[in-house]
Amino acid sequence: MSASQAPDTRVDLAGIPLRNPVLTASGTFGYGSEFAPFLDLRRIGGFVAKSLTLKPRFGNPPPRISEAPSGMLNAISLENVGVDAFIDEKLPVIPDGVTVIASLFETEIAGYAAVAERLSEEPRIAGLEVNASCPHVKSGGIEFGQNPKVLAELVRSVRRATSRPLLVKLSPNVTDIGEMARVCEAEGADGISLINAVQGLEVDPETRRPVLSNVLGGLSGPAIRPIALRMVWQASRAVTLPICGIGGIATAADAIKFLLCGATAVQVGTANYLDPAVAGEIVDGIEDYLKRHGIERVSDLVGALEIPPDRRS
Ligand SMILES: Cc1cc2nc3c(=O)[nH]c(=O)nc-3n(C[C@H](O)[C@H](O)[C@H](O)COP(=O)(O)O)c2cc1C
Repeated sequence: MSASQAPDTRVDLAGIPLRNPVLTASGTFGYGSEFAPFLDLRRIGGFVAKSLTLKPRFGNPPPRISEAPSGMLNAISLENVGVDAFIDEKLPVIPDGVTVIASLFETEIAGYAAVAERLSEEPRIAGLEVNASCPHVKSGGIEFGQNPKVLAELVRSVRRATSRPLLVKLSPNVTDIGEMARVCEAEGADGISLINAVQGLEVDPETRRPVLSNVLGGLSGPAIRPIALRMVWQASRAVTLPICGIGGIATAADAIKFLLCGATAVQVGTANYLDPAVAGEIVDGIEDYLKRHGIERVSDLVGALEIPPDRRS
């Protein structure tokens, strides 16, 4: 590749063509248009909108966000405008040429399928991401993504409801992420996204109370990056599905680490709160890395982690 030649940053994520592998993560980028004043939404690969339910939902009362070492703890509880308002009000203001992935959840499997069906009617939506980190009411509040049988039922049911590219976003709060990835593959998912926030607890010793009204929250940000990298690497060895890597990405170098560990694309989450333009800067940084290393295609980095033979376990 000559120095003047631009590297090819395009990737195909589970049947979704992306101009580059940098997306933004659900719940950290609103419904997209909120970030338009800060960066050109066409510069990034696309964005995953806030997770949607059939009806609008209100979140937990405050306090629902707390600072953590190298990260944050949140218990927003998936507040959202509902699928109809998203389609009627939020989607039409997204400029043409911006790749939109819709995220969905419910507390019952039938609800997930219903939201997926509704979203599938919309040509502007490039693909669906099923948020499997929500409590399954019938299982007593355990996350859908924590029980392989429940996860299988969920993916099967949403798969039947949509022919659109289907990503399943896995919970990190499990012992064996490879098993969960295999369940998604067996049930017909087109790809997996991981990780969602890691369950955590913060305490105020003066009041002896949990800091968050919900008691537990989800830990995100650089604090979870090594956990996320480990899980992406393990999942990439367990399945052939494309993976979207998420967790603590704040720089181009962070994003490249995920590609090397087997991710086809990445999502930037908590870092958007510190710098709403960061996702665009990560795209620039990846291009610069490819040029500096004389790499023609970003896809050449996917799974290119080198483990010296004497360090293989
Ligand atoms: C305030 C906040 C809200 C979130 N809301 C959602 C959501 O609605 N759906 C979802 O799948 N993930 C949600 N997440 C999880 C993120 O998409 C992401 O998986 C997680 O934060 C890890 O990435 P990060 O460390 O880059 O933030 C949320 C995270 C934060 C911090």
